[in-house]
Amino acid sequence: MWQAERPSNIALIKYMGKKNIQNNTPSNASLSWTLQHLKTTVTLEPVVNHEDCWEALPSDFPFVMSKKGRNKYLAHFKRLKDYFGVSDNYKIRSGNNFPADCGIASSASSFAALTEVACQAFKDIKNIDVYQRAQLSALGSGSSCRSFLPDWVLWDGEKISQVESPFGDLIHMVVIVGDQAKAVTSSEAHKFVSTSALFEGRTERAEQRLKVFSENMQSKNWPALYEIAWSEFWDMHALFETSNPAFGYFLSGSIEVQSLARNFWQQKGDGPLVTMDAGPNVHLLWRRDQCDLFEEFETHFIKNKWQSISNFGQKT
Ligand code: DP6
Repeated sequence: MWQAERPSNIALIKYMGKKNIQNNTPSNASLSWTLQHLKTTVTLEPVVNHEDCWEALPSDFPFVMSKKGRNKYLAHFKRLKDYFGVSDNYKIRSGNNFPADCGIASSASSFAALTEVACQAFKDIKNIDVYQRAQLSALGSGSSCRSFLPDWVLWDGEKISQVESPFGDLIHMVVIVGDQAKAVTSSEAHKFVSTSALFEGRTERAEQRLKVFSENMQSKNWPALYEIAWSEFWDMHALFETSNPAFGYFLSGSIEVQSLARNFWQQKGDGPLVTMDAGPNVHLLWRRDQCDLFEEFETHFIKNKWQSISNFGQKT
């Protein structure tokens, strides 16, 4: 039996919209922060007289994979077997240490972990490096390729690369304002957004934000990063809300947490980067030197009201 784990990641510049649906070629480059504390574990075990199959691993956050989700997962495993020239069948088990399907990018970590476990199991046939693994993983789910490197990761549509940052390690917190499985998956969202009138110019807007975000990262302009990240996730959610059919992920709690973070910035002149994935939950990223601010925000506004997950107490 083989076992592997990969972390999730949260994009600050989003992968939304595809040039090619078949191989997940993104319309624009994306940039993410790797969430080392939010992981998927996958095991692989040979089976005889049985098709490839999937089962949940026991976990604190048990989840049921939808039929659609399972088909996509098993189709990716078939793609991996074809790549390595493997014809035996396997039982795949996977589990997360966080709630799935609600905007914590569980598909990124679960596809990355599946690709990783297959690369380990079949390494005697072909041993490929981390960049090739990431490319293979992107064919299953685009955003998963960014889970193969730590910290800031750029995916330009062909390859991934790590981006240097003067800010060092970050504190991540996701505020869970809803944990119901989402009605529209991110793969469906990629298709629908092309029907939005706002999709025209989306590639240029995302590329421009990426350029300015990278420049401000190098010049250590944290408030500018906050502003860019804010307009970027609103741009993506505006595409959702103006698609045909329109769909959306915001809950009242999503708006409430956003307002709390914005008011905090206004009061302190400092605060977290704020972003949302294709789900209702709000992600906050803080510099390690902001730990007092982080604690103040958490104690006053989050604790006792919402569930949240963070890596605050974890050693860097
Ligand atoms: C909103 O990688 O889940 O999380 O390639 O179709 O599997 P597929 O899509 P997926 O899309 C992720 C979209 C996003 C933004 C992001 O992570 O960049």
